[in-house]
Amino acid sequence: MASPSHPDIERVLWTEDDILGRVAELASQISLDFEGGSPPLVVVGVATGAFLFLADIVKRISLPLRVDFVRVESYGSGTESSGAPRISSDLKLDVEGSRVLVVEDIVDTGHTLSALIAHLRSKGAVSVSVCTFLDKPARRKVRLELVGEGKFYRGFECPDCFVVGYGMDFNELYRNLPYVGVLKPKLYS
Ligand code: PRP
Repeated sequence: MASPSHPDIERVLWTEDDILGRVAELASQISLDFEGGSPPLVVVGVATGAFLFLADIVKRISLPLRVDFVRVESYGSGTESSGAPRISSDLKLDVEGSRVLVVEDIVDTGHTLSALIAHLRSKGAVSVSVCTFLDKPARRKVRLELVGEGKFYRGFECPDCFVVGYGMDFNELYRNLPYVGVLKPKLYS
């Protein structure tokens, strides 16, 4: 395992190589599962955290697809979910009749995805799948109900600690780290 290159990082959980290897595996699986064309696939990234994962994974999915973003506010500037997410920036594309793949950086309580899945269902998506880079099942508060033939993909199971990098932030910093690391607790406690 590589040593942390940023002084605020206590330890690295996944290096850039670990991440890109896993992203390639996920993209292959998704390409197989969604092969066959119709209805069209829309990949929806959840801003801001998913921006690097979304960019890396869509480059490796060998299918025609469209890309859009939503913004869902849930954490503010703290480390705990408010439990009442709000869709503050909606899709540009019409997803009625489409298969949707939501791309997230992390699922924690599940409140954000649960609200987003309900929103996509109400917009007429025929299926809603989820591909999250990290999953923290120990912290789940709500069960995720996928839509139609929707599938759930995850890159890695994440231990219950505060992680940053590869899109994930604390106070909007650290998103540009190419690896995922544990933030030193003294920085937020
Ligand atoms: C993070 C993350 C997920 C959500 C997961 O977003 O990107 O969207 O929290 O938490 P939950 O499962 O408990 O709802 P955040 O609100 O921090 O915004 P960001 O993507 O802009 O960092």
